[in-house]
Amino acid sequence: MTPRRYAPSQKVLHWIIAILIFALVPIALAMANLPDGGLKNALYEWHKSFGLTVLALALARLLVRASRGAPPLVDGLPAWQRRAARTSHLALYALIVLVPILGWAGTSACCAPVMLYFTLPLTLPISGGMPVGEAILKVHQVAAFTLVALVALHVAAALHHHLVRRDGTLRRMLPGGGEG
Ligand code: HEM
Ligand code: HEM
Repeated sequence: MTPRRYAPSQKVLHWIIAILIFALVPIALAMANLPDGGLKNALYEWHKSFGLTVLALALARLLVRASRGAPPLVDGLPAWQRRAARTSHLALYALIVLVPILGWAGTSACCAPVMLYFTLPLTLPISGGMPVGEAILKVHQVAAFTLVALVALHVAAALHHHLVRRDGTLRRMLPGGGEG
């Protein structure tokens, strides 16, 4: 049966993943551009650990989504906006899984070990060394910037719903928010 609202777990996962991505991207830009040194190395470690955390939470989120579904889009949207919403949500789900997997695979190939929060070794068995690692990380970078662009559109759409259409779309993703 189609639910009438997002479950609290869906909202919590949505916002924790969003916060982690808002932290991960500036960390990525800083670590890639800083001169070699302790700060650069620390930012790499935080980037990798936050990224792996996004992957774990995204998989949990997909399980909840598959078992519980999501409320229908608000009434009165033109067909192209309904299609755009469905396609962009699907692409966001795909990218929050793909981007960290690519980062994980690329780092495992070129620059092992991958350590989760400086403790748990999680390097994947991927051979090929630097050339393979760099190629995978290039795809990781392109996919990550695609995710950033899509998130910008997604936020613009959420604000449009809230401020221009004044419907319940944003409220129903907020704590305590109900049917839209
Ligand atoms: C949702 C999760 C992730 C996002 C949004 C993300 C985002 C990014 C972005 C935007 C860059 C490009 C930085 C630049 O070249 O200016 C980047 C690079 C990189 N990411 Fe990620 N990343 C994620 C997950 C991961 C994970 C899980 C790992 C490894 C375990 C990882 C490892 C790397 C590495 C090694 C680079 C290369 C930086 C360089 O060129 O020196 N990322 N990431
Ligand atoms: C930064 C990373 C973000 C990602 C990866 C993301 C991803 C998603 C996905 C996949 C959905 C579809 C949920 C489902 O149908 O199961 C969704 C819904 C939603 N998101 Fe985000 N989101 C992000 C940030 C934001 C931000 C910053 C806002 C608000 C300013 C926002 C507002 C919403 C709203 C209002 C919905 C509900 C749409 C509806 O029910 O029709 N999201 N988000």
